[in-house]
Amino acid sequence: MVTGASSGIGAATARALAADGWQVMLGARRRDRVAAVAAEVGGRAEPLDVTDPASVEAFVATVPACRLLVNNAGGALGWAPVAEADEEQWRVMYETNVLGVVRMTKALLPVLEASGDGQVITVGSIAGTEPYPNGAGYNAAKFAVRAVMAVLRQELLGRPIRLSEVDPGLVETEFSLVRFGGDAARAAAVYQGLTPLTAEDVAECIRWIALRPAHVNIDQLVVLARDQAGARQVHRRPS
Ligand SMILES: NC(=O)c1ccc[n+]([C@@H]2O[C@H](COP(=O)([O-])OP(=O)(O)OC[C@H]3O[C@@H](n4cnc5c(N)ncnc54)[C@H](OP(=O)(O)O)[C@@H]3O)[C@@H](O)[C@H]2O)c1
Repeated sequence: MVTGASSGIGAATARALAADGWQVMLGARRRDRVAAVAAEVGGRAEPLDVTDPASVEAFVATVPACRLLVNNAGGALGWAPVAEADEEQWRVMYETNVLGVVRMTKALLPVLEASGDGQVITVGSIAGTEPYPNGAGYNAAKFAVRAVMAVLRQELLGRPIRLSEVDPGLVETEFSLVRFGGDAARAAAVYQGLTPLTAEDVAECIRWIALRPAHVNIDQLVVLARDQAGARQVHRRPS
């Protein structure tokens, strides 16, 4: 099961997992987009809004069995100092990146455990370990989800469920377009002069984690472009 599979890392993950023979169930809010990816990979798509408990409940109810949950739905909204924080944007980021993961994971734990080798792979971010100016709302959400994953790892110790977090740096997807409210020029500037990761690069990491044998738990995998040495350190070639 892949959340946020209508674009970017989620869509690439659905493709990679399907190529490995997984039966993939895809969820996202944009029905047409997620249905198109599902059709392409021979998977099943259902509408899903991870911020809506009823939507999560309905989505999970259609799944009798599941061995892998990829908590990918998420993203950032806005770019502002804390002094000018837009509380509504902060609320949506927390709802999506943190409570969305909690809701999905909580709802699926019984079937994941029943599978005998359940796996939860959550897409965090280096924003969850390295705070940066103007990013506090997103930082706070990704720090929080990292805490949730670490706690789960301890709480589920001894049970057949593996818990992993993949923390990418700059990946060229619709992420920046969403963050900057559809401003394509501003979004493109984020990746200017460097070679960012692609959604497929991150999907490869997820696929690799999913393929480890049952006794191996990849706790955290940080993946950055060669041109990026941290959230605040990026090398750009002059244009
Ligand atoms: N791109 C980066 O630089 C980067 C770096 C580190 C981490 N990440 C993380 O990677 C994950 C995927 O982002 P991306 O880069 O692939 O960006 P993206 O192309 O914007 O994809 C985000 C996905 O999340 C879905 N989504 C958003 N809100 C949702 C909701 N309430 N319910 C269900 N699905 C929802 C979107 O689908 P709908 O709009 O159709 O619902 C979309 O499929 C996110 O968690 C993001 O924080 C991205």
